Amino acid sequence: MHWNPESYERDVGFVSDLGADLIGLLAPEPGERILDLGCGDGRLTAQLAETGAVVTGVDSSAEQIAAARARGLDAEVMDGHALTFEATFDGMISNAALHWMTEPDRVLAGVHRALRPGGRFVAEMGGAGNVAAVRDALRAAMDRRGLDFEAANPWYFPDAAEYSARLEAAGFEVSAIKLFGRPTPMEAGFRAWMEVFGPRFIDQVPAGDRAAFLDEVEALARPALWRDGAWFIDYVRLRFVAVRT
Ligand code: BEZ
Repeated sequence: MHWNPESYERDVGFVSDLGADLIGLLAPEPGERILDLGCGDGRLTAQLAETGAVVTGVDSSAEQIAAARARGLDAEVMDGHALTFEATFDGMISNAALHWMTEPDRVLAGVHRALRPGGRFVAEMGGAGNVAAVRDALRAAMDRRGLDFEAANPWYFPDAAEYSARLEAAGFEVSAIKLFGRPTPMEAGFRAWMEVFGPRFIDQVPAGDRAAFLDEVEALARPALWRDGAWFIDYVRLRFVAVRT
């Protein structure tokens, strides 16, 4: 997946803002070493660094890591499925990134290796039911074209029971976990959301049909997501605090 840091910041910068209270849950002490897993353009990582923690960000996107480094952050390109750190961090934070990692047990094994015993893992990701109306609209418009939604689907949205079981199996104690809805206004419009987050689907559609495809997805999603003159994306978050044993 290629990210455009400019449109990410301009159109969906709210993603990092909504994750900001994860920092309070992590409660880093000055000098603690913290990893931001899936740091994107580093907006949240920079807020974390302001606490006095020693922060590193990793992300699989070279474009996003370049944007994070441009903020003066320590950041490197790394696939969350293959973290290379060994007992390096006192804590780890992850916002709106884990649902792009479709092999969660590999991710959690790497998080466990990267943390010191007692290290905290605080994260928020898309959970069960996340962007259901968007997915339904995409599935319907793709079905009509004979395209396979599931084959293109890059997202993993677990419920609390499933993710708790995975955390425990990977060697964590789960202090808190909850699934909650957070319908989120999308000021830049539905199309802009699709253009930032939907390329895996859009790329399946022949170039000459893409505008019609996006019109159709938007029309299908509108009854569920457009109200009071604004678009609301039907986000459902899974948020947890876990401790490495
Ligand atoms: C999310 O943050 O839940 C999300 C973002 C982009 C695509 C799908 C889900």
